Amino acid sequence: MPARDRSAERRGVLITLEGVDGCGKSTQAALLCGRLAACGLPVGPASTPGSVIREPGATPAGEAIRHVLLHGPAHIAPWTEALLYAAARAELVETVLLPELEAGRVLVLDRFVDSSLAYQGFARRLGVDEVLAVNEPGLHGLLPDLTILLDVDPVVGLARAGGAGDRIEAEGLEFQERVAAGFAALARRWPERVRLIDGFRSVELVAADVEAAALEAVADAGLRLGA
Ligand code: TYD
Repeated sequence: MPARDRSAERRGVLITLEGVDGCGKSTQAALLCGRLAACGLPVGPASTPGSVIREPGATPAGEAIRHVLLHGPAHIAPWTEALLYAAARAELVETVLLPELEAGRVLVLDRFVDSSLAYQGFARRLGVDEVLAVNEPGLHGLLPDLTILLDVDPVVGLARAGGAGDRIEAEGLEFQERVAAGFAALARRWPERVRLIDGFRSVELVAADVEAAALEAVADAGLRLGA
């Protein structure tokens, strides 16, 4: 039975930031939250206003799954990995994203389903449509209004990330090159939703472009600035 599409009930805005490890999206996500809040928008979950939501994580079950994925066993079979990311995401969608969006909040996510498509679908070679299919029941029809893809050379990203910080970063450069190719393919597949921004510039210049793209998405969604 297909999952009920509950995304139509939302009134808020979902903005996701994506890219290879070390692309700078965590820094940009935090800056974006601050800038949107300064515009008077209801940013982040109502319980922690102004905050970025990170994936995997942001719920008690999601943080436990994150620990297994990133700092648990050295070897996890590719489909186990894909299903664990999907499970953490299902928990987040059900318990945080749908209620917060229904309440009209503007949510900024540090990674979402596109990471699974790029990392597990492309880089682990499980197939984009196959990985999307296992995520769909937990998404309830929810896709981002805007996905900002920070474009950074994986060599630069890995150097910025500081090496093998977690199990995925430990996969090394060739893996990150496949992730980057995967993200580029996703941008071609969903040109309306995915906005490519050059991340190999100063934090301030990148932040200005990120903010402009986000404000456009908020305006498209019909939220009045400063309301
Ligand atoms: P995190 O530290 O949150 O990312 P970053 O280092 O970019 O700030 O770690 C999340 C890791 O998990 C990162 O290497 C990407 C990977 N990942 C997947 O492989 N699939 C997914 O669906 C998600 C959300 C993340």
